[in-house]
Amino acid sequence: MSDFQFPDSFAWGAATAAYQIEGAHDEDGRGESIWDRFSHIPGKVANGDTGDVACDHYHRYREDIDLMQEIGLGAYRFSISWSRVLPQGRGQVNQKGLDFYQRLVDGLLDAGIQPYATLYHWDLPQALQDQGGWPARDTALAFAEYAELMAQALGDRVASWATLNEPYVSAFAGYFQGRHAPGRQSLDEMLGASHHLLLAHGLALPALRANAQGEIGVVLNLQQHEPASESALDAAAAWLADGKHNRWYLDPLAGRGYPADAVADFERPIGFVQDGDLEAIAAPVDYLGINHYFRTIVRSEAPDNLPASNIPNEQTTDMGWEVYPPGMYDILARVNTDYEFPKLYVTENGFSRTVAPDADGRLQDSERIGYHRDYLHQAQRAIEDGVPLGGYFAWSLLDNFEWAHGYRQRFGLVHVDFKTLERTPKESAWWYRDVIRSNGEKLAD
Ligand code: FCB
Repeated sequence: MSDFQFPDSFAWGAATAAYQIEGAHDEDGRGESIWDRFSHIPGKVANGDTGDVACDHYHRYREDIDLMQEIGLGAYRFSISWSRVLPQGRGQVNQKGLDFYQRLVDGLLDAGIQPYATLYHWDLPQALQDQGGWPARDTALAFAEYAELMAQALGDRVASWATLNEPYVSAFAGYFQGRHAPGRQSLDEMLGASHHLLLAHGLALPALRANAQGEIGVVLNLQQHEPASESALDAAAAWLADGKHNRWYLDPLAGRGYPADAVADFERPIGFVQDGDLEAIAAPVDYLGINHYFRTIVRSEAPDNLPASNIPNEQTTDMGWEVYPPGMYDILARVNTDYEFPKLYVTENGFSRTVAPDADGRLQDSERIGYHRDYLHQAQRAIEDGVPLGGYFAWSLLDNFEWAHGYRQRFGLVHVDFKTLERTPKESAWWYRDVIRSNGEKLAD
């Protein structure tokens, strides 16, 4: 047996998100989302970029499914734009929006690709933000209604559901740093948002269970927080940073409530937690999805009360993120040991680099190939050590709208020319096709 044998059921996938690729921002009855509003505020997104057109996937999804088929993807992780199906966030349903996701899911299934649907990848309907957004408890109730609608529409065909993508980033970047929509800067709002996101997940679970056949889980961005030195102070700071980032989400999902050390350190009352919330949040999931890009190095003297990182390794991506493949093994092994979810996925992992076409017009992104190869080696190591890893999703299928960085950060296996919207597979796409075909054996090369 080769060293690089993956389970037969392993899901080889690629991921995208609605606002990052769909475009068609005001077509067929779609309502405004917080990212539509935010990206149009001058200075919020590099180069003044917006997701108005993005990859125009709303119109070109068939071409994109063909590309997925050429690459041989077994699974495709996408997200649903809440305001496309419920323009005001709740109430009136936009049938044309639902129809789009019906066509997408049917097209994927016809192509032999398993649909992995995420309900919330950061694009809250603006109407709900106007009523308080995630710091308001009612948003969690609206989310449960939306989940029920989608489960009724697609529940017989979607293989795998995720309620939320990276609630940490929604709460931290959106309500504390203000770097993401809706651009708020308040610790209290961040804490309220984080709880109501988790509550939204918990309230959506019964609606999904009742109406959907596929597995159900949630996606967190997780990385180890390592002390910058051997000093006890740095070790304590790293553990606390882990509490604010990882355990803040993992512990409630695992039925342990919020981590006491982090609660104490925030020095804020958590009165937004009502009777029954923690039980709802802790309802069993079928899997936990992990998005992993880098590790975090923590110093005790960091000025902020939130994690600080630096870059110890030489190789970084265009995002400035450290390339450190063993970090993915470390987080997979740790989450498995400490939390014992029935199944884990790597729902995102990827490399941002712009490459120019060579003399033959080919996009030789050898660094991206090396990145996925080295991280997949770590995935395989984790499987060997007993981690129940169900699949791996490259971020991303396409170059796309990278949030506050606009179109300058290119993570795609497939290049997109944002003037002509032409798609061109990079060498990494063909390399990934061979990995998938060989169920991982190609990784030995
Ligand atoms: C993750 C997001 C995804 C993409 C990658 C680079 O945090 O989930 O949408 O932006 O980072």
